Amino acid sequence: MRIDVVSIFPEYLDALGLSLIGKARRDGLLRLDVHDLRAFAHDRHRTVDDTPYGGGAGMVMKPGPWGEALSAIADAPDAAERPLLIVPSPAGAVFNQAMAQELSTRGHLVFACGRYEGIDERVLEWAAERFEVRPVSLGDYVLNGGEVAVLAMVEAVGRLVPGVVGNPESLVEESHSDGLLEYPVYTKPPVWEGRAVPEVLLGGNHGKIARFRRNEQLARTAVRRPDLVLAIDPAGLNRHDRDALWHAGFMIDDGRVVRRPDAGDTAG
Ligand code: ADE
Repeated sequence: MRIDVVSIFPEYLDALGLSLIGKARRDGLLRLDVHDLRAFAHDRHRTVDDTPYGGGAGMVMKPGPWGEALSAIADAPDAAERPLLIVPSPAGAVFNQAMAQELSTRGHLVFACGRYEGIDERVLEWAAERFEVRPVSLGDYVLNGGEVAVLAMVEAVGRLVPGVVGNPESLVEESHSDGLLEYPVYTKPPVWEGRAVPEVLLGGNHGKIARFRRNEQLARTAVRRPDLVLAIDPAGLNRHDRDALWHAGFMIDDGRVVRRPDAGDTAG
């Protein structure tokens, strides 16, 4: 996979040289290039922002440097036909594991890190001729710029690229891979600070362990993320799952998971 990131703080992205993503880059599984937007600003001060038309607080990123930076990426000989241009923004669609999965199948991702009040809107319109443009938010809060969002997105997407995570099994049972949160995990010692590891995990009965873990997933998701439980397709739930959900305050009604009317506030 090829990734280009444009930022006025290229050093912010240095963390992508560490750990699994750094190794994937060295192994040639990910090609990641970071571009300094100021290299495409030509005045003495390398200005990338200006005051907003219509007034208001803060500064807006000028279109000129962005147009040049994105053209240079799109015109590179080995660029994809129509790369996906991701514009991190609190006004974008919210990033999640399903989006990470989808992005991991793309050949070429370009990230445009805005700062200040954002990028002149005409850049996004203009870019749509050469890129598939997608504003994406990390969540419903405001960061100072897109760089932290890019760190998160590149890590979430990069680890799904085949070969990046050594044991692909570990991608299967993690939170959000099946719409549920991950079950709790334990390691040695068997008793720590007076707290014992759940007995069933020490017994070696794989069926019982799988059931215990599934129940923990359902119970934990019910408490922490009831919105995810309400989105479960009941077709994927067996009798034991339905029992676990009932105990957590949910039931199946008319082909959907709903809150049990008598459950009060016990679930979530
Ligand atoms: N830039 C500023 N806030 C952001 C957010 N929540 N997600 C992505 N990019 C951002």
